[in-house]
Amino acid sequence: MNELIQMLPKAELHMHIEGSLEPELMFKLAKRNGIELPHQSIDELKALYDFNNLQEFLDIYYQGCSVLQTEQDFYDLAWAYLKKAKEDHVVHTEIFYDPQSHTARGIPFEVAINGLYRAFDDAQEQMGISFHIIACFLRHLPEQDALDLYPEILKHRDKILGIGLDSSEMGHPPEKYQQVFAQAKKDGFKVVAHAGEEGPAEYVKQAIELLQVDRIDHGNRCLDDEILTAQIAHKGLALTVCPLSNLKLKVVQDLVDHPIKKMLKKGLMATINSDDPAYFGGYVNENYRQLAAAVGLTEDEIFTLVENSFKASFLPDSIKEIHLKALH
Ligand code: ADE
Ligand code: ZN
Repeated sequence: MNELIQMLPKAELHMHIEGSLEPELMFKLAKRNGIELPHQSIDELKALYDFNNLQEFLDIYYQGCSVLQTEQDFYDLAWAYLKKAKEDHVVHTEIFYDPQSHTARGIPFEVAINGLYRAFDDAQEQMGISFHIIACFLRHLPEQDALDLYPEILKHRDKILGIGLDSSEMGHPPEKYQQVFAQAKKDGFKVVAHAGEEGPAEYVKQAIELLQVDRIDHGNRCLDDEILTAQIAHKGLALTVCPLSNLKLKVVQDLVDHPIKKMLKKGLMATINSDDPAYFGGYVNENYRQLAAAVGLTEDEIFTLVENSFKASFLPDSIKEIHLKALH
């Protein structure tokens, strides 16, 4: 099974580039930029990677971002992820980044996007990995902050394909972001939102009905609502599921309890992704491997999940076809 997972070319659709910041690179960048981290060693930092919920993770994740200062830092961060993606036979990746976690620290908008874009563009040429970049709004901040940032995103629309919504879910329902998402949709951006990771099925419903999302990030809790689940399946709206993230953030108590098989049985277009691989214990293939071992995925199910990764991508149909044919 692990050989099949390794061998299949795949797409990754839910990966926060800041969440691929490995402790070793974090310390290296801290030193390069003269930044003092609150942790004395890599081991001391890693000992903190024991989370009870999303918020405990986010507090550590945003602190880690402080070492990202220059365009080269963002380039190096992306390049390190791309090397892992290549090892996992990822041939297309749609990554998230959080512009506000950098602009709020005084890092100009261009610094992050230019560094990231240059790395992904180089990798497309040198590694043959195609990509899209999705800029996420931090939902714990007021919608006005997102509206204030939006003109910067528009200015860089040649590099940014879509808009996302992430950070602390509980208490920050999708309805809070209707205005900025409506504008983004009107301007032709793809739109996605984290929904139903910790939040209720109602938030998934709002993401669909009020934000008109093209894909749902996580979406686990939609399963609490049978009618909603059937509607999502009927629409063919994809879920970007992140098994190791679900385990580490206690969305599931044990990987054997993961609802992936149920999702597939209900006809949901589920995909497998790594979310924040440096924090959750593995890149995309490790997510497939551990999930397959825990719930006993069949070869057919693995195949379906990999096929879904291309079907649910924002690639043009003609390119999707090429990837899907290559699987057979
Ligand atoms: N930002 C980075 N990872 C996230 C996650 N799993 N949920 C919400 N926001 C995030
Ligand atoms: Zn995520």
